[in-house]
Amino acid sequence: MSVRRLAPDHVQPGSFAFDAANENWADREIAKYPAGRQASAVIPLLWKAQEQHDGWVPRAAIEAVARKLDMAPMRVMEIATFYTMFNLQPVGEHFIQLCGTTPCALRGAEAIRKVCEEVIGPQSTVTADGKLSWLEVECLGACCNAPMAQINFDYYEDLTPENFRALLDDLRHGRPTKPGPQNGRSCSEPLGGGQTLKDAALYDGTVIGAGDWQARIADQRKAAAEAAAAKAAAEAAAKAAEATPAAVEAKPATETAAAGRPKPSEAGQPSGAAQDTPAANGRVAVAAVKESAKPADAQSAIPTPAAKVATAPAIAESKPQLLTAARDGKPDDLSLIWGVGPKLATMLNGMGVWHFDQIAGWKAEELAWVDARLTGFKGRATRDDWISQAKKLSTGWRPDSALGDKPVK
Ligand code: FES
Repeated sequence: MSVRRLAPDHVQPGSFAFDAANENWADREIAKYPAGRQASAVIPLLWKAQEQHDGWVPRAAIEAVARKLDMAPMRVMEIATFYTMFNLQPVGEHFIQLCGTTPCALRGAEAIRKVCEEVIGPQSTVTADGKLSWLEVECLGACCNAPMAQINFDYYEDLTPENFRALLDDLRHGRPTKPGPQNGRSCSEPLGGGQTLKDAALYDGTVIGAGDWQARIADQRKAAAEAAAAKAAAEAAAKAAEATPAAVEAKPATETAAAGRPKPSEAGQPSGAAQDTPAANGRVAVAAVKESAKPADAQSAIPTPAAKVATAPAIAESKPQLLTAARDGKPDDLSLIWGVGPKLATMLNGMGVWHFDQIAGWKAEELAWVDARLTGFKGRATRDDWISQAKKLSTGWRPDSALGDKPVK
């Protein structure tokens, strides 16, 4: 650690004042703190003073900061002399802080120090051309790339007397330099690149006896892709069947939707295919949503399709009042309704639904109309009881979670 003393009187300027831009900046810094706590801005102001005064803090700047912050000059002096980030002596255009702590010392910092003394002179002196000055400092936290030096705001690491001498020459003559390791390695890697964790067996699971997990995942992905393709084909077939009203009328609703109905193992999936059966007059019979989610043994107890058509609760559809745009350009966040994600919210906006109070005011037939048009999510509005949710939300109540409040069934 170097001695922390103010520069001798003959180099001290007679006065110091922030320029207009820095004065404004200082006022804004001070305003960040509560009244009576302006002294908290002392370090930023000292830093700005150092920046304005060619990289060092003269006595006059310490006094100016004290006046600005209504502090005793000695308090500001204590701070300026305590923190080594403040230079109390003039520095060169390229200010070199050479680490002299143990790891750097063991790796040759002493030889780098000798280069500094030869090329620049004693520490805390500036070369005649004003280009270079140096100071020995404590560990700068780059020990794994020792020896190293910080030059202005950059680290230069893996120094040798040769590459450091060349570096100083480049700086002095304004040639570009490359911060970081000077021996060609990347960051703190070994020279020539990584030397460990190169065995491919480390990554295929054999070391921990996980077998061929990559093949297992590939199989799972393939099976999922096949299932998705089969489901898409079934849905396409169901849609084609629906496109022929006569054919639809001839079939019970449950049968028409059978192809798109999730398997019992997919009970958590949207079960709306059965609700998408248009009648010839444009109104649709909507069967109970929960039917398709029943397990196989329960299905066996279900009445025959013909009987089901006779007994299934059917809700006529009615188009609700829709809007061409959100009122005052301020739509409600429909994703606060449990079960409504960004995709469904966009779909609802596309239909003309923008506000909670619109949904809250729907009757069962209007809910059914919307439900039948939630492509890919049919039945969701009924299943998640959007009307009750929207009624609560339209009062201004908000759920704890951004996903909404799961309705209790
Ligand atoms: S000892 Fe030099 S950077 Fe840590």
